[in-house]
Amino acid sequence: MNVELRGIHKAFGSNQVLKDVSLSLQGGEVCALLGENGAGKSTLMNILGGVLPKDQGKILLDGQEREFESPSASLEAGIAFIHQELNLINDLPIYENMFLGRELKKKSGLLDLEEMERQTAAVFTKMGVSLNPRTMVRDLDASYKQIVEISRAMMMNASIIIMDEPTTSLTDPEIQRVFEMMKTMKSHGVGIIFISHKLGEVMTICDRYAVLRDGAKVAEGEVKDVDTDLLAKLMVGHDVRTESLQREGEKGEEVLRLENLTREPHFRNISLSVHRGEILGVTGLLGDGRSELFLTVFGAEKPAAGKIILEGKEIQLPGTPHALKSGIGYLPRNRKENGIIKDMDIFENASIVTWPKFARRGFIDRTVQAEKFASQVKKLNIRMGKKTDPILSLSGGNQQKVVLAKWLTANPKVLILDNPTQGVDVGAKEDIYDIILKLAEENIAVVVLSSEAQEIIRVCSRALVMYHGAIQGEVSGPTMNEHDIMKLATGGRLNIAQKGENGIHG
Ligand SMILES: Nc1ncnc2c1ncn2[C@@H]1O[C@H](COP(=O)(O)OP(=O)(O)OP(=O)(O)O)[C@@H](O)[C@H]1O
Ligand SMILES: [Mg+2]
Repeated sequence: MNVELRGIHKAFGSNQVLKDVSLSLQGGEVCALLGENGAGKSTLMNILGGVLPKDQGKILLDGQEREFESPSASLEAGIAFIHQELNLINDLPIYENMFLGRELKKKSGLLDLEEMERQTAAVFTKMGVSLNPRTMVRDLDASYKQIVEISRAMMMNASIIIMDEPTTSLTDPEIQRVFEMMKTMKSHGVGIIFISHKLGEVMTICDRYAVLRDGAKVAEGEVKDVDTDLLAKLMVGHDVRTESLQREGEKGEEVLRLENLTREPHFRNISLSVHRGEILGVTGLLGDGRSELFLTVFGAEKPAAGKIILEGKEIQLPGTPHALKSGIGYLPRNRKENGIIKDMDIFENASIVTWPKFARRGFIDRTVQAEKFASQVKKLNIRMGKKTDPILSLSGGNQQKVVLAKWLTANPKVLILDNPTQGVDVGAKEDIYDIILKLAEENIAVVVLSSEAQEIIRVCSRALVMYHGAIQGEVSGPTMNEHDIMKLATGGRLNIAQKGENGIHG
């Protein structure tokens, strides 16, 4: 099937979000839909997916004009939309999730569980997926959840699949798994629209690209004719720098030290120290334990053994308020699940940390907070309406900036940033990197947790690589490279000979 969007317009109030956008897709083709945060990508796909009405324009399937009044109407026509916040129910087995909303029933009216399980198994076989249909969704990692959604689209005979930032919270091997699945879909003649801010992925998996800027289509073409630098430039409208931002700089005194911190099965015997003004990277693959480790440092989990030492004194952290009070800040990994409070407005989300700094005689100074927030909005180039609008009215990347903004005004001693640039466009990523550098210049000890080796290399002066809950090695200095990081992350060791010379200690 081929789909064509022609002259689509869409406004939210006075905010004209899509201006005369046209886009087409053939069966068996993967097209990247690119653009800065707030450019209108999700909105365009919400129109194709029947989630939002368009103001003007046409949707044509195989040349026939169609109107989709609901997501199910769009799905009925063969268009499956995989939203970033996946629509699976954790407490049901895979096969029931595959039939959500269209459960198979027996004549008696009871659910036909056997038949649902059988059909699920059949799709998995066809797609080459080795999952047991009876597994509970809760027990699947993020990539398998994606794969269940893709299989569900396949089972419903979708001809077009829309994937809105499917890889944002996935690790490298998980991404590979999703890519394999996309190739299988492609070979079955399915057309895929792939939204991502990771341009390397676009080069790997996409055939064509289209770029939106401020709601208008500014470029399109074949991926083989471009490189990531050019795509970045098309998205933001100017060159994007790519050089390393590492600074030589003196590190200050030690702020945080961990001694043999252990919480089985997640991590064991972790000893490390972070200094004022330092940007320490911590990286690794799925199951490395870095997020669990730093959740513990933030007081969200209790360690079984070991010490947390802040400014030379051992501290006990019975909960996150204690960590905050001690001066430890934390930006959580998964914005959609942990970072935002969906019922609150933008400003409330940006100021939810009741930080001692703003408390004057026991109450929080809202005026000071509001001023700080206004300056962050400018600094981070957050695209928003009023600060009292709901947080969910922002595009994904702008939500991430709001969540980050609250930590920037808080001025902690140690700031832990887990996956700080998730879903953030290439230009804004640079803004966030600049902010991280600025925080370090202000003598904050910054810990950046990331699965992107490129990110670690660009912003950190030193990085620890974890493997299965232990520190496998350390890389530092100007010779840090992806190869060494991957080697450590997969359980390898670096040559002793490389030590010193390259500033690498494995
Ligand atoms: N339901 C809504 N109500 C009001 N404004 C909205 C709504 N949904 C989106 N917008 C606005 O429309 C614009 C485009 O948002 P959209 O979500 O399409 O961006 P995007 O390209 O997907 O960005 P990102 O990469 O950050 O996900 C933004 O300015 C956003 O604030
Ligand atoms: Mg979006």
